[in-house]
Amino acid sequence: MSGCDSIGIYSIETERLTKRFVLDRGLLDQVRNPGKRDVITTLDGVNLKVQEGEVLGLLGPNGAGKSTLIKILCTLILPSEGNAYVGGFDVVKEGQKVRSCIGFITTDERSFYWRLSGRENLQFFATLQNLPQSIARDRVEELLDVVRLKNRADEPFLNYSAGMKQRMAIARGLLNDPAVLFMDEPTRSLDPGAAKSLRDFIKEHIVEEKGKTVFISTHQLDEAEQLCDRVAILDEGRIKADSSPADLKSRLPAGGSLCDVFTFFTGKDFSEENSSSSPFSMPGSGRRRRGLGMGMKRKGF
Ligand SMILES: Nc1ncnc2c1ncn2[C@@H]1O[C@H](COP(=O)(O)OP(=O)(O)OP(=O)(O)O)[C@@H](O)[C@H]1O
Ligand SMILES: [Mg+2]
Repeated sequence: MSGCDSIGIYSIETERLTKRFVLDRGLLDQVRNPGKRDVITTLDGVNLKVQEGEVLGLLGPNGAGKSTLIKILCTLILPSEGNAYVGGFDVVKEGQKVRSCIGFITTDERSFYWRLSGRENLQFFATLQNLPQSIARDRVEELLDVVRLKNRADEPFLNYSAGMKQRMAIARGLLNDPAVLFMDEPTRSLDPGAAKSLRDFIKEHIVEEKGKTVFISTHQLDEAEQLCDRVAILDEGRIKADSSPADLKSRLPAGGSLCDVFTFFTGKDFSEENSSSSPFSMPGSGRRRRGLGMGMKRKGF
């Protein structure tokens, strides 16, 4: 483990974490209503605790605030109110220390250099992270091995499949050997086979072998169930439930799937239209779910 010697009971902790955004307004609206401010509350008093070595799944529909929460914890944006600590460090006051002990894995493949090879990309990002050259060279080779890309490492990044690009993103996130890994929808845009293989990879190599604390956002219930020790359901900026998948399911009157758990705690149902058309839908998601919800449907989930 590097950088995070102060990790105590919790690797990640938030207290009443709140984020508000002031929305952009058109010029005409600004002229007509000069004093008006349109503010949306994206996170509303989020309290979360993640223990060292734990895998927490942040589950929520589009627009729930998942990426916003991860961006705050990775020191990319500031909270409006409340506190957040990663590795025992305050994300606002000790951003540099937080950054030294985290890895952030996004699905944004544009952040790689497409004409450079996989190996060159990793060497470049290792340099950006100030890793000494001798250490960087070994680390890059080790990670190419870990993500099973050694035999394609000298090909340009643009030749890689979506799954290979995702594995490159994981390798980049592990360059500084972080104690805490944040993953924002790591299997988004992957086909079901590639998504499964990436999930297996995360479980076997990142969680079981390396014992990292993992904070993973997803809106795929099967992914949360397969990967996570604990699931927090985030909806409209609030944590609606937070426990192990088994415990959440046991709280339902008649048992059920994690899908039913979501409906039970949020009062919302999956859109049958969306779930049946999604290549990543839950097993059996094409059928109508049991009537635990309040008849509300949310588009895009
Ligand atoms: N910079 C910003 N300015 C204004 N509003 C923002 C900004 N960033 C996020 N939001 C709003 O905050 C809400 C939550 O967005 P966020 O990206 O965190 O959701 P999400 O749960 O990650 O959704 P998705 O599943 O689609 O990725 C949305 O309504 C979004 O429009
Ligand atoms: Mg998001």
